[in-house]
Amino acid sequence: MPNNVVVLGTQWGDEGKGKIADLLTSRAGIVVRSQGGNNAGHTLVVGDRKVVVRLVPSGILHKDCLCLIGSGVVVSPEALFGEIGELTAAGFENVESRIKLSEGCALLLPVHPAIDRGAEKKRGKNAIGTTGRGIGPCYEDKVARRGLRIGDLKNMSVFEDKLRALLDYRNFLLKHYYDEPEVSFETVMNSVLPVRERMLAMLTDVSDTIAKAGKQGVKVLFEGAQGTFLDIDYGTYPYVTSSNTVAGGCCTGSGAGPLSLDYVLGIAKVYTTRVGGGPFPTELNDEVGEGIRKRGHEFGAVTGRPRRTGWYDAVAMRRAVTINSLSALALMKLDVLDGMDEVKICTAYRLPDGTVSELPPFAAYEYEVEPVYESMPGWKESTFGITEFDRLPVNAQRYLKRLEELSGVKVAIISTGPERNQTIHLEDPFA
Ligand code: GDP
Ligand code: IMO
Ligand code: MG
Repeated sequence: MPNNVVVLGTQWGDEGKGKIADLLTSRAGIVVRSQGGNNAGHTLVVGDRKVVVRLVPSGILHKDCLCLIGSGVVVSPEALFGEIGELTAAGFENVESRIKLSEGCALLLPVHPAIDRGAEKKRGKNAIGTTGRGIGPCYEDKVARRGLRIGDLKNMSVFEDKLRALLDYRNFLLKHYYDEPEVSFETVMNSVLPVRERMLAMLTDVSDTIAKAGKQGVKVLFEGAQGTFLDIDYGTYPYVTSSNTVAGGCCTGSGAGPLSLDYVLGIAKVYTTRVGGGPFPTELNDEVGEGIRKRGHEFGAVTGRPRRTGWYDAVAMRRAVTINSLSALALMKLDVLDGMDEVKICTAYRLPDGTVSELPPFAAYEYEVEPVYESMPGWKESTFGITEFDRLPVNAQRYLKRLEELSGVKVAIISTGPERNQTIHLEDPFA
């Protein structure tokens, strides 16, 4: 019986990971975040209540669930405690005592959003369209081995020395390269000192906690952030985020061994969205795309930006299936396509030289492709809230079956609305 289940995005983020992570958490004792930071925005809808979690694992909504933040996550103390405050004010119980942090987490400090802003300005028309949270610069400092980690808060003399060295370098760039205001030592210290003791009290060995849970039969859910094509290695580089969003990132980012992952559930919308710049072969810059954006409320949960919309891309999906070892798919937001005359699926890419490719390229500059579409008749009836496959309109059933066939992996869950119960369950990932 699967003990460790991964939920991750298979497109460009915002697939509906939050809804599914929340649903599956009723079965799990622990939810783990392994990468990303407060660039994520996962929406959970319970009754008439909507909660957006950013850095905190979505397990926090279930009162007995332990929430782990692994060393692959970049942690902004201000964002973390801001979110803890909001969740506590919203009435969730024991929020702070149920969140445990790895001491290896990179600290995202006020200097990082400043560099993020400066770097985006410098990129000009080639801007990535980041969330502006400082995620990329924080990972840069980590990889360059000049970053600060949560564990450094244990020894403030070491912390202060490292911080001075970091600011020496970053402020040089802010002043002389980015033409942006510098960030003072005091500003950074003021962002960590008031919460230092609280953070130290939250430290745990995340890897060991996950391993022990396995031995005790406690189920663990790994909650991915972003999506496969925002992955730093496999995404549409350089229009990507700065972490490994694919399944492998769960292991490196949490210390769970590679063979400990039992089931990988890929989350995908039955169409595609992307927020920020970069290639998007099936993008619809017309009233069809506008209709999807309106009906799907496709506006970013973190920045409020309108999301770009387009048809389902089975070429990209096949790569997501391979890279992530997907066990199954959860297909989301079926109801958004209700009422359309036709629905299309991209089955191949036509390259500028006329050849047809069934695999997506790696780099953004190679994405001058024309999608090859298969068209299917749409359905006029509402699918909103339907909980049984057989009760879906026949054309919706056919569309879903075709997505399954072209993607090359079975469908375990179909979502027909934002709420927990607006779901068709075909296979239980934990069973
Ligand atoms: P995440 O980042 O992957 O967790 O996704 P987001 O929360 O950023 O965006 C997904 C949005 O779609 C949220 O507003 C969800 O409430 C909403 N949602 C999820 N599933 C469905 C569904 O089946 N139908 C509709 N209409 N909305 C959904
Ligand atoms: P969730 O977890 C959608 C995008 C940004 C930008 C690129 C780099 O809610 O699915 P970054 O700030 O990470 O350096 O931005 O990645 N991006 C997301 N898009 N959903 C997200 O998270 C995202 N997190 C980052 O828009 O294009
Ligand atoms: Mg989101």
